[in-house]
Amino acid sequence: VASYDEGTWPDLVPARLIERKREGGTLSHRELSGLFSGYLRGEVADYQMAAFLMAVFFRGMTRQELDALLDLMIHSGSVLDHSHLPGPAVDKHSTGGVGDKVSLVLAPLAAELGLFVPMMSGRGLGHTAGTLDKLEAIPGFRTDLGLDRFEAILAEVGVAMVGQSSEIAPLDRRLYALRDATATVPSLPLIAASIVSKKVAEGIQGLVLDVKTGAGAFLPVMEESEALARTMVELAEAKGVRTTALLTDMDTPLGSAIGNGLETREALHCLAGGGPDDLAELSASLVGEMLVLGGLETDPVEGQRRALHALAAGSAVDRMARLVEMQGGDPRVVEEPHRLAPAPLVGRQRAPEKGWVQGVRPRVLGHGVVDLGGGRRAMNDTVDPRVGFILEVAPGTRVEAGDPIGQVHASDKAGLARGKEVLAAAVVMGPEPPPPSGPVVRRRFPSAS
Ligand code: URA
Repeated sequence: VASYDEGTWPDLVPARLIERKREGGTLSHRELSGLFSGYLRGEVADYQMAAFLMAVFFRGMTRQELDALLDLMIHSGSVLDHSHLPGPAVDKHSTGGVGDKVSLVLAPLAAELGLFVPMMSGRGLGHTAGTLDKLEAIPGFRTDLGLDRFEAILAEVGVAMVGQSSEIAPLDRRLYALRDATATVPSLPLIAASIVSKKVAEGIQGLVLDVKTGAGAFLPVMEESEALARTMVELAEAKGVRTTALLTDMDTPLGSAIGNGLETREALHCLAGGGPDDLAELSASLVGEMLVLGGLETDPVEGQRRALHALAAGSAVDRMARLVEMQGGDPRVVEEPHRLAPAPLVGRQRAPEKGWVQGVRPRVLGHGVVDLGGGRRAMNDTVDPRVGFILEVAPGTRVEAGDPIGQVHASDKAGLARGKEVLAAAVVMGPEPPPPSGPVVRRRFPSAS
């Protein structure tokens, strides 16, 4: 199928462009610009953009098309500038996982170690939950601050955590919600452009990417996760942002809490030095990379060691409390996480027979939280922050018949019953111990050489 670059909008008929992508052809920068700017102006309908995204899902994008999409996303809004801050601005972004509450630990920790962290996060996407919903589990916490307030909190506390404002990569913001509703999230070019655009627009000098791989990741296959990591590092570096990616395990949920308020509680526990180990290790590894990217450390392993030490000492707890207070939340929650609203009903699922836990299926639990009311089925749904799961086993745990495998936190009896079914389906048992699972960080890009 030929690629052509002639005619002016509205000669660029959306259906023709969708058709060309559907048939495996390529679109020029000008054609993509016509399509996406027409979408932002309301001249291209949601249903047309959804069809185009599905065509991209199946056909992919050439590097030129991806570069064009990235530019269009970045320049659909403003690009911030943090050069007036007295230290390096560095951020982290994850491709999304189940139980992934790293941002709540990492952001105050990185600020405690001298970085400025202007973090703009998302809401839940597919089977994954978003940082904004976890923060909003804290009574009063506001994530919809204007840019002036965002900058002021960042300058004062060293970290601010908000939603992607309408000024930052609005094209990504619109597409993100549309992709969630049309099953077009798991596409390498769409994920790469989405993440890199909003992080470049944040005006940071350094970026660490947590690229998930395994059953609970959007791109579960290792080779695809690696290609995503490599692509995002190249794209961000080409835009002048020093970038490192860690490829990390998402075959099993991170930590034991799944569900917004329960995850916030676990993250606060971790900030106070209480683990769990996988969450502490991953958060510290990412902070170690951030320190190197910000020029405050030369060796990521030494950076990780400093971060682990600060975590064990609970050094970032006060900073988190200040952040919560500045963003309108109740700061007492940070030291007293039991103040977070509990679910009305809590029940337990028990092992039907003895055996070894072979694995814990992250997607089953991620979708299970949505079933309990803790995630969105439609864009405007409200989320119940109280519901979710606490795992009481992990791959390799030996259980006897009747031992607890996990808790369900539910808003009503139907949720409790559904939650127990979800846990029974998520925890896979077998008669023999499974092979040991490897470290949470699998690979680094660029590889240390
Ligand atoms: N996170 C994002 O910000 N965008 C995606 O497309 C996937 C995960």
